[in-house]
Amino acid sequence: MLSSIKTRVIAFYMVVLFLTLSALGVFLYFSLHKIVYNAIDSSLLSRVKALATLVTENDNETEFKFSDDVMWEYNSPKSKSFFQIRRFDGTTLEKSASLRDSELPFQTGEDQTSLKTIFLNGEPTRLINFYAPEDNRHGNKEKSSAVKNKGHGLIIQCAEDIEDRIDLIQSYSIVLSLSILFIMFISASGGFLIAKKALTPIKEISETIDRISESNLSERVTEKNIPSELRDLAASFNRTFDSLEKAFNRQKQFTADASHELRTPLSVILSQGEVALRRERTAGEYRDVLSTTVEAARMMSQIVQKLLTLARLSSDKVELKIEDINIGKTIHEAVKLLNPLAEQKGISINISGNEQPVIHGDRALLLKLFVNLMDNAIKYTDVPNGKVDIFIKKEKIFVVTEIKDTGSGIPEEDLDRVFDRFYRVDKSRSKEIGGIGLGLSICKKIAKLHGGRIEIKSKVGEGTAVTVYLRGDKDGTQA
Ligand SMILES: Nc1ncnc2c1ncn2[C@@H]1O[C@H](COP(=O)(O)OP(=O)(O)OP(=O)(O)O)[C@@H](O)[C@H]1O
Ligand SMILES: [Mg+2]
Repeated sequence: MLSSIKTRVIAFYMVVLFLTLSALGVFLYFSLHKIVYNAIDSSLLSRVKALATLVTENDNETEFKFSDDVMWEYNSPKSKSFFQIRRFDGTTLEKSASLRDSELPFQTGEDQTSLKTIFLNGEPTRLINFYAPEDNRHGNKEKSSAVKNKGHGLIIQCAEDIEDRIDLIQSYSIVLSLSILFIMFISASGGFLIAKKALTPIKEISETIDRISESNLSERVTEKNIPSELRDLAASFNRTFDSLEKAFNRQKQFTADASHELRTPLSVILSQGEVALRRERTAGEYRDVLSTTVEAARMMSQIVQKLLTLARLSSDKVELKIEDINIGKTIHEAVKLLNPLAEQKGISINISGNEQPVIHGDRALLLKLFVNLMDNAIKYTDVPNGKVDIFIKKEKIFVVTEIKDTGSGIPEEDLDRVFDRFYRVDKSRSKEIGGIGLGLSICKKIAKLHGGRIEIKSKVGEGTAVTVYLRGDKDGTQA
């Protein structure tokens, strides 16, 4: 249950609100309690003082000069005000008729004015015991303690039934508690609605994502009409889906291209075989059919091999046999392999620059990289006295190799796409010379695996320059 954000937010919010309102409620309750009791106590004190002024003593005779008003206030049987006048020894001199048979509680020895709440006939009553020494009433403080010690002086007790006031405080606390509960209920409902409304866009985003993964990859999360806080989330989901869709389409295109490339030689093998089998052929005819079939099978084998290389280089865990590689040496090896082809086409290959840079890399893959690039340079150079210039240099952390030819060049609009799998600028021309369109994709992957990249510049009719950047050894040169 608490795993839901909505529940957690509301629970936290309710706990905080409950604590705050309870603290406020307790504060308000005690404030009112104090105000009410202060009012009762000060009224009792004024009354008891007023009573004290009405008491006089002459030769051990105590007289009470109570007016009718006073008598009416205390002596009505229904009155909720009481008084009792005692000596210090506890003997009662006078008490209000409202007390009837009851007595206001008193303990001998009490000699201080005190206030307390008692229960008189079961009713909560506030009582003040007012110590009024004889001479205090006459304004002579020095004599008062002597009089008290002899048992003289008076205790005037005044009390008031405070049930109404206690009822008032109780009603107030009930109203306060109900108000707190009501506020909590309203806040919980409001909080629930706000949380629900705030989380609706997240639900919508997740529903759209479900739809996208289930049905089509072209649908996107709407970035309009959603809170600004969630717009970034929606935008990053959309970016992810954009790249997923692109990758998915690339994959689809790749599968279609691969099947297409394999179908051509396969249909050559099938049709040649079928035609040959229709009737008896001469040995020469069989030889022709077989050589066409072998050529088509070789083509298929090349495609499959390159596809396997690409698949291996694209897997998450490519195992590289890392060793120190002298770039100059590797390039010489590649040139040696391609020299027969270059000589056949009358193309001269030149190596210059710093041939000593060393990199940590996989010898077989790096050889494949340079063979592929040189193969292109030779393959796509048909002009007389064609040249391939290879220049090696060190540039910061990179070992840079430039392979420049004087060939046909690549139109600018195709430059971005030559690294795509199966992409050929002139499909029929490339096919004629055995190009499948996978060489540069393989080269790009190999460069990337060695912490580098490949850049290509070209001008139609002038030639192409391919630059390979590979991460060099720390000190950069000698093997
Ligand atoms: N040096 C170059 N000069 C002119 N065009 C080039 C050059 N290098 C590459 N290209 C163009 O780029 C395309 C892709 O090259 P890539 O090496 O990937 O494929 P390919 O050479 O056709 O086939 P293969 O898979 O056998 O290498 C080529 O078909 C060609 O049109
Ligand atoms: Mg190639």
